[in-house]
Amino acid sequence: MSNAITITRPDDWHLHLRDGAMLKAVLPETARHFARAIIMPNLVPPVVTAAQAAAYRDRIMDALPQDMPFEPLMTLYLTEDTDPDDVAAAHASGLIKAVKLYPAGATTNSASGVRDFARVQPVLDKMAEIGLTLCVHGEVTDPEVDIFDREAVFIDRVLDPVRRATPGLRVVMEHITTSNGVDYVKANDENLGATITTHHLIINRNHILVGGIKPHYYCLPVAKREEHRLALRAAATSGDKRLFLGTDSAPHTDANKEMACGCAGCFTATNTMSILAHVFEEESALDRLEGFASLNGPAFYGLPANDAKITLTKGDTPVEYTDKIITGEGPVTVFDPGFPLHWRVDG
Ligand code: DOR
Ligand code: ZN
Repeated sequence: MSNAITITRPDDWHLHLRDGAMLKAVLPETARHFARAIIMPNLVPPVVTAAQAAAYRDRIMDALPQDMPFEPLMTLYLTEDTDPDDVAAAHASGLIKAVKLYPAGATTNSASGVRDFARVQPVLDKMAEIGLTLCVHGEVTDPEVDIFDREAVFIDRVLDPVRRATPGLRVVMEHITTSNGVDYVKANDENLGATITTHHLIINRNHILVGGIKPHYYCLPVAKREEHRLALRAAATSGDKRLFLGTDSAPHTDANKEMACGCAGCFTATNTMSILAHVFEEESALDRLEGFASLNGPAFYGLPANDAKITLTKGDTPVEYTDKIITGEGPVTVFDPGFPLHWRVDG
């Protein structure tokens, strides 16, 4: 097995950058290795209109260090009041690459999300017509449904009906965490894709709960049983072009994670590529890392792959990553995979 691989510079198809001091601190962590990222719109207040997305894009570019090329791919947050024409204009101008659907109450800052799907049907119809992708947070919020079942139930109750009602709609199931998610993608056509996070390839629900509660492993959708983690690893390394990297790297300060009601989110931007190289090597699939991290995503979104490259080199001594990012709002803990990382990223 070779100790170095050079791949097309990767992109992150699901990223939380926040705003203000947090944005400034976390953006270099992504831009250091990634050329582009789909930027989640769940700010407070959310990025709902094209004008808000344009202003947010400008704030991201202002926060970017000069020597780091990076392109934010903007999204709009779908609400029951979203105007199909505003969405179409934002797409036509090149400003946005996707619209994000959060079921109301599903996760961090999702209160303005969708309750009644009939009310967003005109937007979905318009998106199918113009070929604009819908990124979906796939969990039901019904309090009767167990949190570990919420993804599987969402597929049956919401996602499948929405897709049937909207032929041709391009959908990305974001951060799938179950074999049900994998199976649903595999059973459908090229209009359906899915992102997989780094952390869901590493942790199962035991990592969160056994031996004391680990708030930095808590995210949504919550990590599931080991059999689901193994299904995700098999899927990510399978070479299937509909599956690609979306880290869902989601910074929260330690104060907001380590509390009685801690926030959901794992911060993986810093060490994602080293972790992925480790996983793909373990699965004897290093030759498929480029597809997952750098090629399948742009192909799904109809964008060219990046020209630039990065090289990953495996060394005897573990790569040292900082365990915390210092931000103006307080420290943010970097995801700890629980094992030493030997793959270093250059370029
Ligand atoms: O763990 C998560 N954190 N899941 C999400 O869906 C949202 C994200 C956040 O914004 O913190
Ligand atoms: Zn997310």
